[in-house]
Amino acid sequence: MQTIALALEPHPYAIHVGHGVLSRLGELCRAAGLGRQVALITDHTVAGLHLAPAAASLREAGFEVTEVRFAGTDAAKNLRTAEKIFGQLIQAGLDRTAWVLALGGGVVGDLAGFVAATFLRGIPFVQVPTTIVSQVDASIGGKTGVNHALGKNMIGAFHQPRLVCIDTALLHTLPRRELVAGMAEVVKHALIRDPELFAFLERHIEQVVGLELDPDELDWLIAGNARIKAEVVAADEKEGELRAILNYGHTIGHAIESASQYGYLHGEAVILGMVGAGELAVQRGMWDPVERERQDLLLVRLGIPSGLSRLNTDLIVERTRADKKRLEGRHRFVLPRRIGQVEIVDGVSDAQVRAAVEYVQTRHP
Ligand SMILES: NC(=O)c1ccc[n+]([C@@H]2O[C@H](COP(=O)([O-])OP(=O)(O)OC[C@H]3O[C@@H](n4cnc5c(N)ncnc54)[C@H](O)[C@@H]3O)[C@@H](O)[C@H]2O)c1
Ligand SMILES: [Zn+2]
Repeated sequence: MQTIALALEPHPYAIHVGHGVLSRLGELCRAAGLGRQVALITDHTVAGLHLAPAAASLREAGFEVTEVRFAGTDAAKNLRTAEKIFGQLIQAGLDRTAWVLALGGGVVGDLAGFVAATFLRGIPFVQVPTTIVSQVDASIGGKTGVNHALGKNMIGAFHQPRLVCIDTALLHTLPRRELVAGMAEVVKHALIRDPELFAFLERHIEQVVGLELDPDELDWLIAGNARIKAEVVAADEKEGELRAILNYGHTIGHAIESASQYGYLHGEAVILGMVGAGELAVQRGMWDPVERERQDLLLVRLGIPSGLSRLNTDLIVERTRADKKRLEGRHRFVLPRRIGQVEIVDGVSDAQVRAAVEYVQTRHP
């Protein structure tokens, strides 16, 4: 097990990473000084696979566990579900000394974190992420929230976890489509910050997605990526310039998610968004086309989803305008300068965005 320290004030926290960490969950939560009562929130799928060992480890360490399950889809990540869960916590007699444990992917983490941020005006919570997306991204950084009928993640709060426990062995039950989508965020991390990680992915992408890495290598990969997220968050907790680089591939990606009415998984849309952002960077003369080809080849090997040519180009361009990250009416993009280094570029025109989207639609119909 390796431990990454996230030095946030006033509550620094530890991120433990390793295969088999779940069996030590109770002990690690004890060491973090958490109260006796815990609400373990998970979804039905993860409950069937990984709830028993998690709950057993907590009970062995003396915790009193209330199990809470919900559908675990983005459609269920809403205020109605949160309200139902508040009711279950009140009925279970949880008080201010209690805490929440999120066992699942980003949907569970965001919703359980939001419940923890707001129940009794905020109680501690622990993240036990079970997808690649949540292990390298969503569980770290304290963004919690739910969707509104008029937009994703529109309601929420910053609430940092007390502890993050990442068991890489849990990834072995993930469907391949989720693995590919999750790896989009790993490729993103390599592009924005880590040329060595990029080179590793060029050597091993098929093995990663086939879950054929040996356990120590997988630990190295996930820990390295959790560390990248943690470093960016530590330098910039509330989404200023630095944290914004995590949005590489996300401006066009979010627009595609929304224009397709969420027909793509988030990571799949980010793969398409990175191809689009790469094209924008090449068109602006800021990125070497040879490096762009390396990015795109890696993404082809990972798996570029099809069907984009069926979406209306104007609709996608229009949806990039609705991006929450857009500032004062200008398109703001995170674009590569070289593999491992990106820049924030303001003032990208609609026409340039349109050309980039068309490029992705033609190249990867
Ligand atoms: N808070 C943040 O900073 C942040 C960052 C990125 C994404 N998100 C949010 O995260 C959500 C997406 O998260 P996600 O990609 O983890 O998807 P997810 O939580 O929807 O999980 C994907 C699917 O995999 C299943 N699953 C989870 N773990 C499994 C396992 N170990 N084995 C088998 N099946 C498993 C789930 O039940 C679900 O069906 C979105 O709601 C997004 O908004 C939040
Ligand atoms: Zn993302």
